[in-house]
Amino acid sequence: MHESTLALYPGSFDPITNGHINIIERGLKVFDRLIVGVATNIRKQQLFSPEERVMMIKETIGTNSKVEVVAFDGLLVDFARSRGVAAILRGLRAVSDFEFEFQMAHMNRRLGPNIETVFMMTGEDHFYVSSQLVREIARFQGDVSGVVPKPVAERLHQHFNK
Ligand code: PNS
Repeated sequence: MHESTLALYPGSFDPITNGHINIIERGLKVFDRLIVGVATNIRKQQLFSPEERVMMIKETIGTNSKVEVVAFDGLLVDFARSRGVAAILRGLRAVSDFEFEFQMAHMNRRLGPNIETVFMMTGEDHFYVSSQLVREIARFQGDVSGVVPKPVAERLHQHFNK
C-alpha cells in the first residue's frame, strides 16, 4: 500500500481565483491530500485579512476531507516541515512567473532540502488571471464573475460597494 502523500499549496490568495482552484483540483489528482496555506506576512498590499482569505477559500471548496485551509506565519519551509509535507505545489502561468518561482524554489530547497517544489501549468482558461487584476477590476466595479469563485465575487462586491 502506498503512503499517502501530502502537499502544501501556499500563496497570498488575496483573493483566491479560478486559476488557483484549477491548481487545487488538479493537485488532488497527484497528491492524496492538500494543505492550502494562506501566507499572512506577504510583502504586497493586502485587500483582505488572512481570516477573510481563509474563509473565502473554505466557502469555495466546501467540505472536502482531502483539503485543509490554514493561515501560516513565518517561513514557508518551516511551516511545510512542521506539517510533514512531501512537496510544495505552485502554479505557473507564463514565463513572467518563472523567474520569481525559480528563485523561491531554489531558496526553499536550500532552507528545506527534503521538501520538493512541484510546478503545474495553470489551465489554459485561467493563465491570464491574477489576484492583482481581480482586485483592480473589482475596485472599479468591473465584472469579475467567471474568473473568481462566487463567494469571492460576492465579497468583492460587498467590499467595494459599501
Ligand atoms: O501567491 P503568492 O503571493 O505568489 O505567494 C507567495 C508566497 C506566499 C508563496 C511567498 O511569499 C512565501 O513563501 N511567503 C512566506 C515567507 C517565506 O518563506 N519567504 C521566503 C521564500 S524563499
